[in-house]
Amino acid sequence: MTKMKISLTVGLFILFHATLTADAQPGFVSIDCGGAEAGYTDEAGIDWVPDGDYVYNGTVANVSGAASRTFQTLRYFPGGQEKFCYGLGPLDVSSRYLVRASFLYGSYDAATAFPSFRLSLDTSPWATITIVDASTVYTEEFIAVATGTNFTVCLYRGTTGNPFISTLELRPLAAAMYSVPYLDISFLRRTVRINFGALSDQPLRFPDDPTDRIWVSDRVYPLQDPAPQTTNISTTRDIIVNTTDRPPVKVMQTAVVGGPTGLSYRLNLADYPASCYAVIYFAEIQELGANQSRAFFFRTNIEDQRFDGVVLNLARDVGVFEAFEPGYYNATLPNLVTFQLLEDNSSTLPPLMNAMEIYQIMPIVPGTFPDDVTALSTFKLQLPPEEVVGDPCLPEPWDFLTCNSESPPRVSSIKLSSRNLTGSIPANVGGMTGLVDLWLDNNQLTGSIPDFGQLTRLQTLHLQNNQLSGEFPSSLGGLQSLTEIFVENNSLSGTVPASLLEKGGVLIRADGNLNLCASLSCAESSDKDLNLAAMVGGIVGGVVVLAFALLAFFFWRKLRKRTTKDRHEASRLPFQEQPSFVSSELVSSTDNPVHPGEGARLFHLAELQEATENFSREIGSGGFGPVYYGRLGDGEEIAVKVLSASSNQGAREFYNEVNLLSRVHHRNLVILFGYCLDLKERMLIYEYMHKGSLRDHIYGPLSKEEPFDWITRLNIALDAAKGLEYLHSGCCPSIIHRDVKSSNILINESLSAKVADFGLSKLTSEGVTAVSTVVRGTVGYLDPEYYISQQLTTKSDVFSFGVVLLELISGREPILVSNRSDPDSNIVNWARNLLQRGNVQSMVDPTLESSYRMDSMWKLVELAISSVDQQGKNRPTMNQIVLELTEIIRMERPNNTFASASITDSFPTLSSARSTSMSPSMDYDTSSEIPASGRLSESFDSLTVR
Ligand SMILES: *[C@@H]1O[C@H](CO)[C@@H](O)[C@H](O)[C@H]1NC(C)=O
Ligand SMILES: *[C@@H]1O[C@H](CO)[C@@H](O)[C@H](O)[C@H]1NC(C)=O
Ligand SMILES: *[C@@H]1O[C@H](CO)[C@@H](O)[C@H](O)[C@H]1NC(C)=O
Ligand SMILES: *[C@@H]1O[C@H](CO)[C@@H](O)[C@H](O)[C@H]1NC(C)=O
Ligand SMILES: *[C@@H]1O[C@H](CO)[C@@H](O)[C@H](O)[C@H]1NC(C)=O
Repeated sequence: MTKMKISLTVGLFILFHATLTADAQPGFVSIDCGGAEAGYTDEAGIDWVPDGDYVYNGTVANVSGAASRTFQTLRYFPGGQEKFCYGLGPLDVSSRYLVRASFLYGSYDAATAFPSFRLSLDTSPWATITIVDASTVYTEEFIAVATGTNFTVCLYRGTTGNPFISTLELRPLAAAMYSVPYLDISFLRRTVRINFGALSDQPLRFPDDPTDRIWVSDRVYPLQDPAPQTTNISTTRDIIVNTTDRPPVKVMQTAVVGGPTGLSYRLNLADYPASCYAVIYFAEIQELGANQSRAFFFRTNIEDQRFDGVVLNLARDVGVFEAFEPGYYNATLPNLVTFQLLEDNSSTLPPLMNAMEIYQIMPIVPGTFPDDVTALSTFKLQLPPEEVVGDPCLPEPWDFLTCNSESPPRVSSIKLSSRNLTGSIPANVGGMTGLVDLWLDNNQLTGSIPDFGQLTRLQTLHLQNNQLSGEFPSSLGGLQSLTEIFVENNSLSGTVPASLLEKGGVLIRADGNLNLCASLSCAESSDKDLNLAAMVGGIVGGVVVLAFALLAFFFWRKLRKRTTKDRHEASRLPFQEQPSFVSSELVSSTDNPVHPGEGARLFHLAELQEATENFSREIGSGGFGPVYYGRLGDGEEIAVKVLSASSNQGAREFYNEVNLLSRVHHRNLVILFGYCLDLKERMLIYEYMHKGSLRDHIYGPLSKEEPFDWITRLNIALDAAKGLEYLHSGCCPSIIHRDVKSSNILINESLSAKVADFGLSKLTSEGVTAVSTVVRGTVGYLDPEYYISQQLTTKSDVFSFGVVLLELISGREPILVSNRSDPDSNIVNWARNLLQRGNVQSMVDPTLESSYRMDSMWKLVELAISSVDQQGKNRPTMNQIVLELTEIIRMERPNNTFASASITDSFPTLSSARSTSMSPSMDYDTSSEIPASGRLSESFDSLTVR
């Protein structure tokens, strides 16, 4: 009896398991890159297959120590090729899919620098993967509509390392899910998907979520500034989840509940500001007593204030244990989103929230001009398939093509020399009007040369050493841009048009064609003509060869001279370590354009000498050395900081540090483009900021010509505070600036401010191994606590920033040099004394006159004085400073106030909005059903209950 029961259970289990794996994953494709042939089923019941059938090329590597089997192997792509693509399918055309790619680097190749590379979906850029931690799994996801039977997901080279991938997953979405109306022109890239009030650190996914979205636990997601006394609640009761995006029941069974100040968070969104699709999921998951109610309203810092102030009472408007999903179809979110849920006066319980998703709206880039794609298809059939995956031009061209930057792009050169091509040249190549170079030489092409009369941009035509026959096309005679026509050793006949022979500057090689006449007097005997043709070719060719020889000699001499000089100088310079670690990869990256976000670019000294006109225009000099203005070949303006020679740091450390800094991106931090590591100099190359520093404008050289008014000063303070806040808490590891001052806050043409010189103190004088023992910083800005204790904290930056605020308020320097013995020569003492006497007015810069509000000025002075408190622990954090400054700016501009509780009644209530948008006309089931624009904006303007 017992035995039977056991076997029954086992049987049931097997049955259940089989059902799970066979039926519960309809359409899932789960690819374990580099995985073993046989495939396997993981703990969650997902069936994994190897990637051999989905990709060409690449090499399998093992990652040691990976916890789960799917991450124990990966595929990486060494070698010269630019892009590597997976064909992900099969897909149902017009259906929506979720695709997820994951990357666990695990230092499988023990390279010196972490890899950085880019991803694309078909023709469109999708994401940049920059590994900064070898043991973190990076994931990227998109939601897109299938336009064909496959998605082409490509990895392509960035600046360092080889592209690699660990897993690739395809998940079909149910009909209505993520049915935003613009998926024909864009796709969604996941930014965040958070499960609030999660019961553990573990993410929640299949089988709890039938579509296998990964819901990250709020315990591990880096949320900032949660409101005090925020708590978790959960239920085991079933939740009705009939909203459009179908959040899983398990996700909706947990929530966070706010404290006395409501529920609030701040989210730091990388790659924002950007347009996005954002939804918040709510469900009342508590039984409410007779006297209990929960009603709350939104307050955010985003532009779209549709929901701000609207009162939501879930039990009344939606029902208990039922999901509700208000969403923004297309909102612009800033880099730092602040959102609050505030308790309504009528409510007895604090606000609650269950989950949230944000997706960045990514544009679909139109592919190569269709006629060009068609014309290339004949060649494509004769080339190895791995060379011709995806779109010919985008996001990176096939290796033998170059493309121009028109939209859609046109192919500008085809270089298929010596590729064993057979058959004839397709006639439609004559329609590729973007062509500048067409090289099909040294193949076995037959047939005649098509009409190239439309190729008005064609400069070089190389068709030599084929078996082409027929007449030399007269259409070439009309092409004005041609400079080279090589058709020797074919079987062409006819005559070369006189217009080409007469025109100077066209190099024609036509010998070895038995019946081709390339002379102006073709009436004469063909033998003689051919000699003439060869002579024309010979003479022109000879001149070219001579010119090259002269040039080469000239360069050789120049190079020799320089090398000798460098060698000579190197022998007496303190820094003699050769940058031998710079691999050929890093060196070749100099050919790439500046791509912020992909690691530091190496600049050559010669390039910088040219850009800066031999370091002729000094635009500043800081503690780290002089700064020069420059302009690169592509017109990009740069600032070149030459680090003072005292550095004794090794080249590798320097490179690692620079690479780290170049990955720190925030709109309020000056962009580090790259570095130059020459035999004698180390330089950093930054974006150029046109309007100089804050110091210049408040009491420096520009204070008379271009003074800043009050609101500009406040906005600059806020910008700088955001930049510092990002350094302190937005990027990991947290960076302490150490030298915050008004001359390090730079202004661009649109009067936005960016913080400069962050992370520099590590690059100079102290090696990375040396523990900081020297107090660094600038007199007047130095935190007294740090000076005494030598313990550096983020609060030291806060002190310096407080001094900057005082400069902004007063328009005076931190230290008045003229009168050092007077305690009031120090701005901090001076301001503290005035505030104690309640005399804020005499602190204010007289040039501001009365362009400010007294209440906001008081608030700012108090903020500044608390920032320069003697003790770090009494100073606010940069987070708090950002909030305070935002509030102060709001006070100065009463028109910009956010919806406040007092006007909530004038907003539509949810119950009425709900009935409108539940009507079928608001349901976008497939992306092909784009509503008329009138209806679209209507639905954007009303609250969307989904
Ligand atoms: C890519 O793989 C193909 C076989 O699928 C092979 O013939 C080719 O040489 C490989 N190319 C590179 C660049 O490794
Ligand atoms: C699409 O992908 C499948 C594998 O899923 C592959 O067999 C097929 O050749 C691909 N088709 C295209 C057009 O890339
Ligand atoms: C939710 O949807 C299911 C299936 O469409 C339906 O059977 C059920 O009645 C719906 N529930 C509610 C409360 O609308
Ligand atoms: C989203 O809104 C922005 C700003 O209003 C607009 O430029 C963009 O085209 C919109 N995107 C879509 C996909 O509708
Ligand atoms: C072209 O074909 C010849 C002989 O068939 C072969 O030896 C050669 O490797 C081929 N070249 C290329 C580039 O495929």
